[in-house]
Amino acid sequence: MERVVLGQSELSVSPVAFGTWQLSPRFWGEQSKSDAIAAMKTAFDRGINFFDTAEAYGDGHAETVLGEAIQELPRDELVIATKVFNHFNPDGSRYPDLSPEHIAERCELSLKRLGIETIDLYFLHLFDPLTPFADIAGALEKLKEQGKVRNFALSNHSVEQCRAQRQFAPYTVVQPSFSLVNPAGEADLLPYCQSENIGVMIYSPMHKGLLTGKYTGEETFTDFRQNDPDFKGERFKELCAKVQSLKPIADRYGLTIYQLVLAATLMHPSIQVAICGIKTPSQIEEATGVFGKRLSREDYFAVRNTVGPGSPKPPDASGSRK
Ligand SMILES: NC(=O)c1ccc[n+]([C@@H]2O[C@H](COP(=O)([O-])OP(=O)(O)OC[C@H]3O[C@@H](n4cnc5c(N)ncnc54)[C@H](OP(=O)(O)O)[C@@H]3O)[C@@H](O)[C@H]2O)c1
Repeated sequence: MERVVLGQSELSVSPVAFGTWQLSPRFWGEQSKSDAIAAMKTAFDRGINFFDTAEAYGDGHAETVLGEAIQELPRDELVIATKVFNHFNPDGSRYPDLSPEHIAERCELSLKRLGIETIDLYFLHLFDPLTPFADIAGALEKLKEQGKVRNFALSNHSVEQCRAQRQFAPYTVVQPSFSLVNPAGEADLLPYCQSENIGVMIYSPMHKGLLTGKYTGEETFTDFRQNDPDFKGERFKELCAKVQSLKPIADRYGLTIYQLVLAATLMHPSIQVAICGIKTPSQIEEATGVFGKRLSREDYFAVRNTVGPGSPKPPDASGSRK
C-alpha cells in the first residue's frame, strides 16, 4: 500500500484521495448513489484509505453517502476529511459562518451523517472575514479536546491568511486547487507549506475533468462546467487538443493520459496528495493505476509545458530570460 504522512499530522494516507464533490447536485447534477458507494468500496480495495468530503457537497448528502459506504469498512484504517463553512437557509441559499457556536453545531451534524466519532481532518472550507482567527482557533481546540476532531486544516486560504491563522492554531494541512493547467500557489502557498512542513492535498488535479483525456473539444456540458470558459468554444478545443497530444508520452510509460497527468501532478515536492473527483468504480480504478509511477524530469516538464503556462517565470516577468 502506498502511503504518505501529511505534514506534521500523524495521518498516513494514500497519495490519491477519493473526492466526493461529485455528489453535489447543484454542481454536477444527480449522481447515482449506488455507483458512488461501489466506487468508494472499490477505492478501499485498491489501496485508498483517504476520503474527502464537505458538509456543503449536496448540503450533507455527500457525507451521508460516504457514511453509508464506510459502515462496512474498518474505521481505524480510514482517514476521513470533511469541511465546515456555510450557514444553510431553508430556501437553499447560504452564507459564511465560522463563528464558534456554528462550528460546534455543524461538527456534530457532520459526525452524525458520517456515522463516526472523530473527524480525522476538519477543514475550514473557505476564509470567513467576519470571524477572528483566535475565535476559530478556540472552537477547534475545544473540538479536539472533546475528541471530535483529530486535526484542524484550511482550504481556499491565501498564504497570508494561512500565515495569520498559524499564529493562533496549529493546523496541519491545507487544501488548495492545483492542476497543470493552473498550477496555482506555486509562487507563495506551496513553498510556504513546504518550508513549514504543512501537508498539502490539492483538489481538481484533472481541472474538473478536462485533463482526463476523454474530451475532444466538441462536447457541451449541462453541469456547472457550462459556465466555465475552459469548457467552452475555442479555448476548450485548444486545451483538449493539447491534452490529446500527451498520448505518445503516456504510451511510453504504459499509462493513460489521466494517469500521466496525475503522476506528473504528484511529483511536486510540496504536494503529498491529489484528491480525485470520482463518479464510478472504473474512474477510481484508473486513478489507482498511478501508484508508484514517476516520470523523468524531461517528461515532467514536457507534460506541464504542453497543457499549462510552462515552467515557472521570474517574479518580474519583464526580466530577460536566458
Ligand atoms: N476544497 C474545495 O473547495 C474543493 C473544491 C473542489 C473540489 N474539492 C475536492 O476535490 C475533489 C476533486 O476535485 P474535482 O472534482 O474538481 O476533480 P477532478 O479530479 O479534477 O475532476 C473530476 C471529474 O473528472 C472526471 N473523471 C474522473 N475520473 C475519471 C476517469 N478515470 N476517466 C475519465 N474521467 C474522469 C469526472 O467528470 P466527468 O465524468 O463528468 O468528466 C469527474 O467528475 C472533489 O471531489 C472534492 O472532494 C475541494
